[in-house]
Amino acid sequence: MKYLITGGSGLVGNDITKILLANKNEVNWLTNSNKNKEQVHSFKWNIYDYTIDLQCFKNVDTIIHLAGAGVADKNWTAERKKELIDSRIKSTKLLYESVKNLADKPKVIVAASAIGIYRNEGDKLLDEESEKGNDFLATLTKDWEKEVDEFEKIGVRVVKLRIGIVLSDNGGYLKKVAAPAKFGFASALGNGKMITSWIHIEDLANLFIYAANNENMKGEYNAVAPNPITNFEITKQIALALNKPFFMPNVPSFILKIIFGEMAAVILMSQNISSSKIEKTGFKFEFEDIKNALKNIYNTKK
Ligand SMILES: NC(=O)c1ccc[n+]([C@@H]2O[C@H](COP(=O)([O-])OP(=O)(O)OC[C@H]3O[C@@H](n4cnc5c(N)ncnc54)[C@H](OP(=O)(O)O)[C@@H]3O)[C@@H](O)[C@H]2O)c1
Repeated sequence: MKYLITGGSGLVGNDITKILLANKNEVNWLTNSNKNKEQVHSFKWNIYDYTIDLQCFKNVDTIIHLAGAGVADKNWTAERKKELIDSRIKSTKLLYESVKNLADKPKVIVAASAIGIYRNEGDKLLDEESEKGNDFLATLTKDWEKEVDEFEKIGVRVVKLRIGIVLSDNGGYLKKVAAPAKFGFASALGNGKMITSWIHIEDLANLFIYAANNENMKGEYNAVAPNPITNFEITKQIALALNKPFFMPNVPSFILKIIFGEMAAVILMSQNISSSKIEKTGFKFEFEDIKNALKNIYNTKK
């Protein structure tokens, strides 16, 4: 099989690439940067100039679309918000316009989406049909999914994975929000009661590949492990997995709002997301329990 990955050089893309290459697949990356990886063919696009190297699609069966500026990387100034939007909407439009004109089109696109599409609903269990939010992140995600849906019009199967908090020691949540735990300063956030719907990076990478190869899958699926937990509990488990103390007081919400501005809403969100639909497809999670997930992440790093 031949795969084209956008944003392949990022946290999730790197893991997917590793698994695909280990299983003797061919991998192309479509990248905005100069990042390269052995055995991967890198092709350039520039979503701002609207240019793309069409050679990237040659003999490709599957597109995995991950490109997007990091939602929690920088404070949400007006300029950053524009970048978050453009990097997702413009990239998807450019991808679609390019594929539309190909004689030999890929069969499927598996695209990243996010649980940020849902409302902040405390501990209420949310599935794929639950009401969508209207804040910045939810609106961005709805628009992003709408662009991806265009591919259906040209006969390309569309799968959208609404990703939860990705757990990996190489970046994302554990590197940023939970980083103080490594220095013995693990602290729950806000009131600590927010539900965190997480997924181990390895399960997520496998899920992208599973969705690409399962022809019965189409539409949207929550990409979260079966057992979401509170922020207090995940922080405690991180401290335990790192063999570090857990005695610090919670970081109050107002401090988070001062530090992170509007972006604090993401950190303080409580979303209890159901994994039931993806499990019904037959997908088996390797890491259903937070203790095992963290043990795996931190032990494999040693
Ligand atoms: N990690 C999470 O917890 C999480 C949760 C929910 C949803 N997601 C979504 O899943 C996708 C992959 O996540 P990730 O954690 O792997 O993200 P990541 O590490 O930030 O990587 C995303 C990739 O997108 C490309 N990119 C970055 N800024 C861009 C810009 N301004 N314009 C165009 N392309 C840009 C880069 O690839 P090149 O340099 O190669 O172009 C980058 O490596 C993202 O769309 C993210 O929003 C992630």
